[in-house]
Amino acid sequence: MEIREESDRRGAEVIEELSARVFDRYLRWDRYSVLLYVKVGGKIFVAREGETALGGAFLRRMGDGFWELTLIGVFPEYRGRGVGKALMERILEEVPGEIYLHVEAENAPAINLYLSFGFEKVRKISRFYSTGEDAYLMVLKRTPRRPAKASEASG
Ligand SMILES: CC(C)(COP(=O)(O)OP(=O)(O)OC[C@H]1O[C@@H](n2cnc3c(N)ncnc32)[C@H](O)[C@@H]1OP(=O)(O)O)[C@@H](O)C(=O)NCCC(=O)NCCS
Repeated sequence: MEIREESDRRGAEVIEELSARVFDRYLRWDRYSVLLYVKVGGKIFVAREGETALGGAFLRRMGDGFWELTLIGVFPEYRGRGVGKALMERILEEVPGEIYLHVEAENAPAINLYLSFGFEKVRKISRFYSTGEDAYLMVLKRTPRRPAKASEASG
């Protein structure tokens, strides 16, 4: 399995499929909307085995050093074998700055994944989803990169 950055049409198709198959109860992302966000700095990562997509993630750039993890998902047949973890590792390597996300309050697999990478629950938002489910807002706070030498910091 390898994780590729596919911030292009092919990656957008995987996000569309994940959105339809894995997140069908909520918001449906289509490839064209995803590509619009890629144009303004959004990123797509896809986990593949050969050419088969196992899962993927879509991040929207919300400002300087500020990102939303809009969608991360693994197709049901490939879960529980480290794909989500590998996607998250790659995201944290490639995406600088703070990342926030919303997750269903009862979604233990996803919440565990986020907690294990240092995300913190900031608040619970009741009836966040159209299904009536509550959500947690979770944030990964990362300190900005410091200059290499103390002398540079003091200017
Ligand atoms: C959440 C999701 C992406 C995890 O992907 P995955 O490839 O199955 O996860 P991994 O095998 O890489 O496991 C990574 C960590 O996630 C957590 N996790 C995964 N499956 C879990 C489960 N069934 N129960 C509890 N924790 C679980 C654990 O912390 C695990 O680490 P560990 O194996 O060291 O305990 C996947 O379950 C999924 O696509 N769910 C549906 C979509 C979704 O809910 N996305 C997030 C919505 S905001």
